[in-house]
Amino acid sequence: MAAEVRINASCGGDGTCGKCRVIIDKGSVKREPSPVLSQEEIVEGYALACRTLITEDLEVRIPPESRLGKIAEKERPQPTCGHLISSAEWEERLASFAFDPPFRKIYLNLPQPTLDDNISDWQRLKRELGKNGIKSNEIELPVLMSLAGVLREGNWQVTATVLQQENGCKVIKVEASDTTATHYAIAVDVGTTTVVAQLIDIVTGRTMGKRSSFNAQASCGEDVISRIIFSTKDKGLEKLQSLIVGTINKLIRELVKELDVNPNHICGILAAGNTTMTQLLFGFDPRYIREEPYIPTTTLFPWVRASEVGIEVAGHTCLYCFPCVASYIGGDITSGVIVSRMAESDSLTLFIDIGTNGEIVLGGKDWLVSCSCSAGPAFEGGGVKHGMQATRGAIEQVRIDRDNWEPMIITVGRVKPAGICGTGIIDVIAELFLSKAINQKGKFNLEIDSPRIRKGEFGPEYVLVWAEDSASGADIVLSEADVENLIRAKAAVFAGINILIESVSLDLTDIEEIIIAGAFGNYLEIEKVVTIGLLPELPCEKFTFIGNGSILGAHAAVQSQAVFKEAEAVAKKMTYLELSTNTKFMDQYISALFLPHTNIEKFPRVLDQLEK
Ligand code: FES
Repeated sequence: MAAEVRINASCGGDGTCGKCRVIIDKGSVKREPSPVLSQEEIVEGYALACRTLITEDLEVRIPPESRLGKIAEKERPQPTCGHLISSAEWEERLASFAFDPPFRKIYLNLPQPTLDDNISDWQRLKRELGKNGIKSNEIELPVLMSLAGVLREGNWQVTATVLQQENGCKVIKVEASDTTATHYAIAVDVGTTTVVAQLIDIVTGRTMGKRSSFNAQASCGEDVISRIIFSTKDKGLEKLQSLIVGTINKLIRELVKELDVNPNHICGILAAGNTTMTQLLFGFDPRYIREEPYIPTTTLFPWVRASEVGIEVAGHTCLYCFPCVASYIGGDITSGVIVSRMAESDSLTLFIDIGTNGEIVLGGKDWLVSCSCSAGPAFEGGGVKHGMQATRGAIEQVRIDRDNWEPMIITVGRVKPAGICGTGIIDVIAELFLSKAINQKGKFNLEIDSPRIRKGEFGPEYVLVWAEDSASGADIVLSEADVENLIRAKAAVFAGINILIESVSLDLTDIEEIIIAGAFGNYLEIEKVVTIGLLPELPCEKFTFIGNGSILGAHAAVQSQAVFKEAEAVAKKMTYLELSTNTKFMDQYISALFLPHTNIEKFPRVLDQLEK
């Protein structure tokens, strides 16, 4: 960390994932025994960073597959199936939200006090705001404390910043002179893996710049469950809270520096994140989210001063977090549902955000029902031997020749392959299935005469990249166990979709639109996800990719206070179905543990391709 080299730590240092492998080139260490390192690897100098005690100066090599690389920012071209909402379309969509920001700056030219007009400074300010159509009945104490000086310093010409609330406005800042032209806010997506921040000019509604970074909490575990477990360790919660705040601070610092913006003119931060991330941002104890009956401290968050949680901004800058629905349907989903306008739609819409959890919402303007299913880390490259996040060197696309099973691969950054990310794993499984190298249960056909299909140390496997072509110098393979892991993940999501559909006595074919949100979802190829049975087989025109709905919703809330009012209404209206106690879920899940499904007739196009 001190050298700014970030190492993968999927299991949060439990010694079970094997993703933190490093190579000790010089010096000796004390290794704790580990089942995830083979004897051969230990002889080659491999050690688990999380289970190794340094006893002297070392020379350590970090192999590319163990590094958390840079986030790959790339524009995806229009997919062959489904519609991807482009940046230009998003600009238009955001502009369609009524322009009425929750923060306003008003320039006031106050009449000076006289013996005939001798009301107090605060009453004078309030009276002038009222003349400008602003009913304000609250003022922050620090503003009140400095008010007398600021009014006189500005010769009674001041700019007041107000936060519009349900019962009127709160004055959060008063400054001498006219500063109305410089008025900014930050929208933040607090993701488990990645944190994204946008600096927005409130005067114009324009995004001035965007920055993203891995969530520094990754060193404490990859998914929300491992973070919650980490929070129960001594000082764990404090560490997690300071890591997420540190990540947000770093992004804000970078943005204001790059865009040459005075941070004192940032009046608000609107953040959206899943329930655990939001609790951790505030420093609330998240442990009960993991224990039945799965209760967070709160799902609705008050406006607070951002500096109170440690965000390094001016004292007046406010923080608002999108409301959550339940422990596993968070503010990121509320935000995405609102900005996609699903909650106003007449069409039966399925909204889905796939990561380590599949968060699914079904409905439209009259009702919304949601659930969350634990997909495990497979879609993010976890639990897969050569899996990695979608950073430089990750295999993201795969095609397999149906005659000789030779692969054609594309990596992120078009460099030597270091491992395989979620979309690559889906691709390779779909291709292996269509080329009949694996069957409906994901079992390899070892009769096939190809050196790429072989019996490996841990069972049957497919060699995607030979050692001489890989970044690590070792073969990159996908094993039968990896395939099983992914089938379990996709089965959980597909079962969740079916449970929602069944709960309202409808059929998959009744779905009129499928909205796919999230960084991972944005790169999915519908043909491939349908082939493995992750999503139902429906016509291409029903699929829409919206990208990061969480940050877009936060942006919309910066320019329209109606958005966060609606967020609270949507969060309250959405019914949440708890799947862990749903008796039908297990039946649905077992039926989906096949490629694409036990009932393959539900996937006629896949059946067609198999019969070719
Ligand atoms: Fe070290 Fe998982 S094995 S972080």
